[in-house]
Parts: sequence; structure tokens; C-alpha cells
Amino acid sequence: MTTTTLKRFLGSSITKKQVMSITGLSLCLFLVGHLIGNCLIYVGPEAFNTYGHTLITNPLIYVAEAGLAAMFLIHILLAMKLTMENKAARPINYYMKKSSGRGETFASNTMPYTGLIVLVFLVLHLLHFKFGPQYTVVHSGVEMRDLYKMVVEYFSHIGNVAWYIFAMIALGIHVSHGFWSAFQSFGINHQKYNCTLRCISKLYAVFITVGFAALPIYCYLQGAN
Ligand code: HEM
Repeated sequence: MTTTTLKRFLGSSITKKQVMSITGLSLCLFLVGHLIGNCLIYVGPEAFNTYGHTLITNPLIYVAEAGLAAMFLIHILLAMKLTMENKAARPINYYMKKSSGRGETFASNTMPYTGLIVLVFLVLHLLHFKFGPQYTVVHSGVEMRDLYKMVVEYFSHIGNVAWYIFAMIALGIHVSHGFWSAFQSFGINHQKYNCTLRCISKLYAVFITVGFAALPIYCYLQGAN
């Protein structure tokens, strides 16, 4: 492959969409793992804190974190580039904009906005939870970070619970289209599979939204008791 062909390949919008799909699906996988880990909150402080401690103290965590950060960065930067390119290619007045009839939905039309809400959520989430209060606790003779206390304390404020529920609804809308769209970018577009893929995307979105939104509600109720 010559340098010009490589440049053309990397610059083509289909390549960008496919890279967005791979990074997006990897992030969808991360969300499932994160949700399963978070569910240890229901088991209790020791289970949740020990899980967090095992993750944080594993030397491979740095590799995993770098990979995760790269996935988020590539996904966000390509999304911004594609949105700007699409706008430049279709300078249609907002008021004259008509449906193209290509199966546009509320979720597909609002991808940049729901994506932006998730990005704001992510920055605040990391500031509060990853770099937030460093409480410590001792479980089975080992001193570790008291993530349980930090999370329950954060969700004892109804405003924080409401913000998380709002952001999780935006995340659900975002992935309900993103998950399905990822397969389209790879040409998996056949009447035979489309219905199943749409159903799986919606089920995944509901699972993520309800799963993540239930945690703040549970923690709020824990604090109230
Ligand atoms: C109720 C919902 C959630 C709770 C209770 C929660 C809890 C946590 C906690 C306690 C940490 C810190 C772990 C540590 O310091 O190692 C964390 C890290 C993180 N969370 Fe969440 N999370 C939630 C939802 C989400 C969502 C929806 C996303 C993505 C959109 C997300 C993305 C992340 C990322 C990227 C990290 C950093 C991971 C790392 O660097 O190892 N979280 N979360």
C-alpha cells in the first residue's frame, strides 16, 4: 500500500465509521463489565471494596486504563470529525430539513447531543469517583480504599441521583442506536438480521440504563435508612 493509498484509506468516512464502531462496541463491553462489578454494591461494603482493591492493585490495570482511555478518545474525536464533515456536506437549513426516509429515529438524530451528555457525565464521574475522596477501610486485615462509603455518600444527595438517572437515560438512547449502527458500518445490513439486531440493541440499552440507574436509587435508599 502506497502512502497516498494509506492516507486515502484512513481519511475515508467508511474507515472512520468502522473505527468508531470497533471502539464503540469495545466501550459497550466495558459497560457490561463495569455494571457487573458495580453490582457488588448490593452484596455489601467488603465485597465491593475488595473487588475495587483487587482491580486497582493489579499491575495490568495501567495497560487496561490506557486502552480504555484510547478507546474513549478515538471514539469522541472521530465522532466530532464525522459530525463536522456531515454538516459541511449537507448545508441544509434546519427548518427545511426533511426526513431522508432512511429509517432515521430520535436516537439516530440525537447522537451528538446524547454523546455530549455522556462525555460531561464521564468527566464528572472520574473527578468524583476515581479522583474523589480517598476514604480508607480495613477488610480482613488489609487496608484499602473505601469506595463503598464514597459511592453511598455521593448518592445520599437526591440531585446527584437525578443527574445520574438523566445521564443513564442519555447513555441508553446513545447505545440503542450506536450498537445497531456498528453492524451497519460493517455491511451487516440484511432484512433477515436487521430486526434481531434492532431488538438486541434495544434490550442492551434497557439493560444498561436500568442497571446503572438502579444503583444510585439503591444507595440513596441505603442512606435514607
Ligand atoms: C451508577 C453508576 C456507576 C457507578 C456507581 C460507578 C462507579 C465507579 C467507581 C467507584 C469508579 C472508581 C473505581 C476506581 O477508582 O478504580 C468508577 C470508575 C470509572 N467509571 Fe464508573 N460507575 C458508574 C457508571 C459509569 C458509566 C455509565 C460509565 C461510562 C459511561 C463509567 C465509566 C467509568 C470509567 C471509565 C472509570 C475509570 C476506570 C479506570 O480507570 O479503571 N462509569 N466508576
